[in-house]
Amino acid sequence: CGIVAYVGQKPAHEVIIKGLKRLEYRGYDSAGIALMNGGLNIYKKKGRVNELENYLKDKNLDSTIGIGHTRWATHGEPNDVNAHPHYSYSKNLAIIHNGIIENYSALRQELINKGHTFLSETDSEVFIHFIEDIQINNDCTLEEAVRLALTKVVGAYAIVIMSKDNPDMLIAARKGSPLVIGVGKNEFFLASDATPIVEYTNEVVYLNDLEIAVIDNNELNIRTIQDIPMTPYIHTLDMELEAIEKGGYEHFMLKEIFEQPRSIGDCMRGRLDANNGRLVLGGIREYANKLINADRIIIVACGTSWHAGLVAEYFFEEFCRIPVEVEYASEFRYRNPVIKEGDVVIAISQSGETADTLAAIELAKSKGAIIFGVCNVVGSSIARTSHEGAYTHAGPEIGVASTKAFTAQLTVLNMIALRVAHSKGTITESRYHELLVELENIPSKVEQALKLDAQIEHISNEFKDSKNFLYLGRGYNFPVALEGALKLKEISYIHAEGYPAAEMKHGPIALIDEEMPVVFIATRDSSYDKVVSNIQEVKARKGRVIAIVTEGDALIPQMAEFVIEVPRTDEALMPMVSVIPLQLLSYHIAVMRGCNVDQPRNLAKSVTVE
Ligand code: G6P
Repeated sequence: CGIVAYVGQKPAHEVIIKGLKRLEYRGYDSAGIALMNGGLNIYKKKGRVNELENYLKDKNLDSTIGIGHTRWATHGEPNDVNAHPHYSYSKNLAIIHNGIIENYSALRQELINKGHTFLSETDSEVFIHFIEDIQINNDCTLEEAVRLALTKVVGAYAIVIMSKDNPDMLIAARKGSPLVIGVGKNEFFLASDATPIVEYTNEVVYLNDLEIAVIDNNELNIRTIQDIPMTPYIHTLDMELEAIEKGGYEHFMLKEIFEQPRSIGDCMRGRLDANNGRLVLGGIREYANKLINADRIIIVACGTSWHAGLVAEYFFEEFCRIPVEVEYASEFRYRNPVIKEGDVVIAISQSGETADTLAAIELAKSKGAIIFGVCNVVGSSIARTSHEGAYTHAGPEIGVASTKAFTAQLTVLNMIALRVAHSKGTITESRYHELLVELENIPSKVEQALKLDAQIEHISNEFKDSKNFLYLGRGYNFPVALEGALKLKEISYIHAEGYPAAEMKHGPIALIDEEMPVVFIATRDSSYDKVVSNIQEVKARKGRVIAIVTEGDALIPQMAEFVIEVPRTDEALMPMVSVIPLQLLSYHIAVMRGCNVDQPRNLAKSVTVE
């Protein structure tokens, strides 16, 4: 979910609606706003922020304070009633909440026994009633009631509360869900991330877990839930507004795909200089030796970031000779995993907020592991929780399906691995230099791969009505097959599976008939001949082969129905190039099917629930 709140001199609804649109990537099944326009009034609507905006058109919204929310449903279906803000009637409080209250059903029952009635099925409505109940019973200030309530709720939250009796006040708190406070001139902004704030101010305070911020009469005070006063630390943001707008492209996803030559370049800037054999990662210093001497590397991540981790496994093992395990954060954290001294964890996350990844880090940390974060969002929770790390610097990624963040993650992970391998001496000097040079060449190769767009659009038209897709690859291209399949299913809703090409014969081969498109990532590498045999196996069963090959390949064009030629690069770096046509294929198919590419159904960009 995304939350935005404002108090100052401006019309609050304008700041909030605009901010919610920027946060729609966090959820978009319903939206709502509370304002102090002659009383505390709440307006909410199922659907996108646009629908809320239309609904507000003819209303008098005169207020300079307000809170707003765009939802990704957890408890209760998406509808007007379950939308936020939620309200409590005795003390006239309104809340917006991102996260999940785990003990909400017990609290709900307790409150029902005391005579509370609930309109929605949400945990958030229970939350605000609970606060109200505490305020009434203790006859205390709202701030104190919030504090006491937070000592009793179990779960994750970022909340902002407004109260009719305190018309200039906003109270915010967080645990496990992000919350940023923008500090302007006589005005304050609160939001799930900085994107709704940057156009007004670049001074922000990141609220920490278990802290409560009270903004009242133009003053910000922060205390912990143990009631210890904290001094707000103001960060200065360096983020351009233009970077989060579409820049002439029809969709954010397409813009982000085409940005990759630049974003990969940005990721290497100041870090890599192949001419001088220089590779410096400023964020990995004090703990660099832990990584170099690691007995084992455990990579934790979710979704596309997990696929980046799989590629990194091949890379680290080949060049650093360190065993690597790649874990779904959600499985790892609940498995009582064996973590020993000498193990190092690398957490990969675009948003830096994924709840499972964050929890996996905390678990590993509690067992003494050193954590390196690979995040895109600067100042995000994972970035701050990690001991050290390296940002991917891909710029804001708005399309829900991750593209430029993936290639930037690979860039960072490759740089980390090369740095480690070089220090360990597990890579020869010549191979090290070769890879540095080749890494520097990747942006121009991606640029070249992007020129395939028109051809891929044509192929997409051929397959847009397919019901299933299979993606196959081996070695470094196996995770690329997984990523290609994920991209397609996420945004076009076509069922797709990625497999190691050789595993096909243990199951998926049964699915192959003349209707079945099979995408082979079959670039020239050490498993090329084996992949060619796998293509033959599909051909023999009349499957329709689309092959991603290295330019100049003479053999595969004789077998495949469609061939997409990508520039030659080192086998170990090929995923950054071979994934490009797969991103474009999924994009065009989804557009042709009339799907909402940037905001696919049921998904959210930043999953802050487990
Ligand atoms: C969601 C997004 C994916 C992303 C995954 C992990 O599912 O839709 O694009 O790969 O979360 O997110 P993270 O921010 O941790 O990389």
